[in-house]
Amino acid sequence: MAGPGYMLGVDFGTSHTVAAARSPDNRSRVLLFDGSPLLPSAVYAQPGAPLLVGRDAILAARVDPARFEPHPKRRVDDGTVLLGEREFPVVDLIAAVYRRVGEEWGRVVGAVRPELTLTHPAAWGEPRRRVLVAAAEAAGFDRIRLVPEPVAAAAYFVRVLGQRLPTGSVLVVHDIGGGTVDVAAVTRTRTGFTVSALDGRDDLGGIDLDAAVVAHLSGVHGTDSGGAWHRLTTPANLNDRRARRLLWDDVRAAKERLSRATISEIVVPQVGIEVHLTRHELESLATPALTEAVRLTNSVVGRLAVPGHRLAGVFLVGGSSRIPLLSTLLFQELGRAPVVIEQPELVVAEGSVALPELPPAPGRKWHQATGQPDAAPTSPTPAPTTPAAPPRQRRRRTWLRWLGPVALLPVAAVIVGLAVALITILAFVGMVVWSILTGQGFLPDWNFMPRAPWA
Ligand SMILES: Nc1ncnc2c1ncn2[C@@H]1O[C@H](COP(=O)(O)OP(=O)(O)OP(=O)(O)O)[C@@H](O)[C@H]1O
Ligand SMILES: [Mg+2]
Repeated sequence: MAGPGYMLGVDFGTSHTVAAARSPDNRSRVLLFDGSPLLPSAVYAQPGAPLLVGRDAILAARVDPARFEPHPKRRVDDGTVLLGEREFPVVDLIAAVYRRVGEEWGRVVGAVRPELTLTHPAAWGEPRRRVLVAAAEAAGFDRIRLVPEPVAAAAYFVRVLGQRLPTGSVLVVHDIGGGTVDVAAVTRTRTGFTVSALDGRDDLGGIDLDAAVVAHLSGVHGTDSGGAWHRLTTPANLNDRRARRLLWDDVRAAKERLSRATISEIVVPQVGIEVHLTRHELESLATPALTEAVRLTNSVVGRLAVPGHRLAGVFLVGGSSRIPLLSTLLFQELGRAPVVIEQPELVVAEGSVALPELPPAPGRKWHQATGQPDAAPTSPTPAPTTPAAPPRQRRRRTWLRWLGPVALLPVAAVIVGLAVALITILAFVGMVVWSILTGQGFLPDWNFMPRAPWA
């Protein structure tokens, strides 16, 4: 059953998928998967059974990592992916993730089919967006719209955080997640949002920081490991692949911990050692990537032809934005502190279901902030906007507003004319009656001029 007003927003990420649900009474909530709002986007191909998704897939990967794809989003261009002995269309992998979200929706909301909003990186072109739509259709969804991730983040900034973003002002969304960094300038328009400048990297995110840590450990401890490190980096059998998975999981956990602590431990399987990683070491390893992320932001801000007061802020989104060094570098470069929130992974999904509910843009009607064309490719479905009338209808309404008083002028003139005519007729009739009753002349003596003394 299709339910009007029921909305589901899904942010399919490299590391995690996040889903937000909204009911017709405008209440929204993030769906939980095994108790967490973050569903790992990972999939695992069980022999002769449907694909496993999320934590189930991660657990199963311990049995046979060759059947495991931790980051299907990074494979979006590949067409097919080999898992175990079978090739799967990449659409099927993503469909498995969307299906898992659909199951959770059904469990929480019931047998109501929602309007589905799929978010995507703003730089994604038509072919990649088509893959997402095909996957959602394969997962059983039908009413589908696409929204660029930074637009959803801007909606969150306004709707959920309640921040001011007047028409014509710009929010820079800096999204650094598992696999990508996307920096977008989102301009508030009278009807919604538009991406007015964009830059990013498809090969720069949390996974790449993990890779830098693994490479560092390999450099420090690999030479005297008797070939054990080599087996970790180029696994030859099931045990090696399992050990490699464990190492990467440990490295990621240590990196995340170092956003809160100054030192963390990593157990290196196969080699059988425990190593320490300090925040200082992690920051040195992450500096090139984070400097690049800051450079992208600087370049986007530099391209904006807007006065400083129309830059509403730099909004940090995505799990890797928790790294404290990123905020520090951004502050040093831009001279303003970025907006940081508690759970930056949830912003895009929650914002995607907040879009139709945007209040009208407050403030003055500034002209378009940049003269540049939208950097983002256009969506096949209508761009997300506030629920306003389509432009032609709005123009007609504006005309009607002005037409009203103008059209009243002739009407008022006719009424005044009729009133004057009526009064004249009544006066004339009155005079006739008066002359008949008094027997005086029909016309009164209109000659008010005093007679001249000589007349
Ligand atoms: N406290 C933390 N410190 C550092 N990194 C963290 C922290 N918490 C999460 N991360 C990293 O954030 C990344 C996941 O973020 P997120 O879920 O936003 O990415 P995603 O949306 O899946 O990816 P993308 O948007 O790039 O496709 C992972 O690499 C994870 O290690
Ligand atoms: Mg993301």
